[in-house]
Amino acid sequence: MKITSYQQNLLSDIERLTAFYEVITEKSKGIIYDLGTGSGVLSSWAAPLSRFVYAVEKDPFTAQIAQKNLRLFKNVSLMVSDAKTIFFPEKADLIICEMMDTALIDEDQVPVLNSVQKYLKKDGDIIPCGVFNGVEAVDANIAHLCYHEGVTPQHQLMSKLIIYDKIDFKKYINPKIHYSIPILINNKGTVSGVKITTFTLLTPNFICGPTPMLNPPLLVPTNKLDVEKGDEIILKLKYSMGGGLDTLRASIEPVS
Ligand SMILES: C[S@@+](CC[C@H](N)C(=O)[O-])C[C@H]1O[C@@H](n2cnc3c(N)ncnc32)[C@H](O)[C@@H]1O
Repeated sequence: MKITSYQQNLLSDIERLTAFYEVITEKSKGIIYDLGTGSGVLSSWAAPLSRFVYAVEKDPFTAQIAQKNLRLFKNVSLMVSDAKTIFFPEKADLIICEMMDTALIDEDQVPVLNSVQKYLKKDGDIIPCGVFNGVEAVDANIAHLCYHEGVTPQHQLMSKLIIYDKIDFKKYINPKIHYSIPILINNKGTVSGVKITTFTLLTPNFICGPTPMLNPPLLVPTNKLDVEKGDEIILKLKYSMGGGLDTLRASIEPVS
């Protein structure tokens, strides 16, 4: 069974793995769900420290890789299913859910968490436990949405980073985002896009910035607006978490 290049890239991102390893080995106990187990790497760290791990993977091909990697653990059950619709026979002390994506738009993290929160014990934990989302105005020569990974698309920052959203994974998450965000411009020029950056809270006190495979910043083109230093503009930002990048709309206007 050959590992896919996507799973290989996830396993090559040492910064991402180190952050998860640290928190999983600290928090693992009792009953654990590992939702979106992929290659099974996170389950393989949790299993020796827990009573039982339910590892869930919806992609059958990827699940075969997890099956092979986890076969020696007697306390792991691999479920090939969509984590949104699964029935778990017992509640979890810890839910690990790594279906992260910048601003949680393009993966199932939010719909999955909304459907499994009922299975978390009262004093249980979720890894990661939340995110902060931030945005900056940019002048970028881009025609389409693009992730800021590998080759950096040319862009100039036109404002400071503004944290516009804080999401707690233990509470119900409204997937619909529709914000008007005031942004103070700190450069003369043209604003033609925004850069969205997601910071992952592995625990409330352990924040991990973007890594190549964990929420690389997203550059989003907008309409163009000529600006002076000190101007204020309004960013209208709309998307659905779990709805995919097609739901993302961003436009800017001057403060009238
Ligand atoms: C970002 S990968 C993480 C893989 C692994 N946990 C790791 O950290 O290396 C997310 C995985 O979640 C799986 N996945 C996505 N949506 C899912 C869903 N609704 N139910 C179960 N698995 C899902 C994908 O197929 C993929 O293997």
